[in-house]
Amino acid sequence: MQLRICENYDVLSALAASEIIQIVKQKSNAVLCLASGDTPRLSYSLVTKIAKEESVDFTRCTFVGLDEWMGISPDNEGSCHYFLQKFVFKPLNISDDRFHLFNAHSTDMEDECRMMDEIIAKRGGIDLMVVGLGMNGHIGFNEPAESFSEYSHVVELDESTKTVGQKYFQQDTPLTMGITLGLRHLLESKKVILIANGAKKANILRKALKEKITPHLPASILRNHSNSLVIVDRAAASMLTQIK
Ligand code: F6R
Repeated sequence: MQLRICENYDVLSALAASEIIQIVKQKSNAVLCLASGDTPRLSYSLVTKIAKEESVDFTRCTFVGLDEWMGISPDNEGSCHYFLQKFVFKPLNISDDRFHLFNAHSTDMEDECRMMDEIIAKRGGIDLMVVGLGMNGHIGFNEPAESFSEYSHVVELDESTKTVGQKYFQQDTPLTMGITLGLRHLLESKKVILIANGAKKANILRKALKEKITPHLPASILRNHSNSLVIVDRAAASMLTQIK
């Protein structure tokens, strides 16, 4: 695992964007899995800008969803689907057949998970995963105490995820379950980038990088991946040098 501490959020976002662009320059049909949420928003805007300026074509890439809130419609602004459409697929002209997102309304969630696993396997695995850091250390919706060895699955959301998740929605929204790629996907993906910014992430980042590697702290798994890159700003890194 490599760690890059950037001066601020802008620098962090520019670095993450250039990493994404590099992957697609090297492999125009790369399989990408991009988190939604507040952290990557600027990175994705920068990717769009650079892609235009440097004529980097993302239209041959395949995008797979990282996660989704169960029961939330794709047209709800708080859904991961909506976020990716708005900040990634539309600006990069990605056609519908190039992205595969979880259907949070499926009546057969097992089948939904199996289909996603098959899509990823058929395309030879994920080339790049970009993930954020939950306030409880989650990755995607892999909540604390789950196993490192799962593929796609349905989870009961942690109390903290239900509460923090309200920030994405216009009105109070009951959030109970999620569907997510598993940490096994992360371990098998060719490259993983975790991005985190702000002082609010400092303590959980310290735990993830300095304490025991355990499914109780899902983000700690990044240290078991041979090609993982953690990009953070100074505020998020502020507790890394402190004694436990
Ligand atoms: C979203 C996701 C989540 C977020 C995490 C951090 O698709 O997978 O794990 O990455 O909760 O969210 P932000 O970036 O909003 O702090």
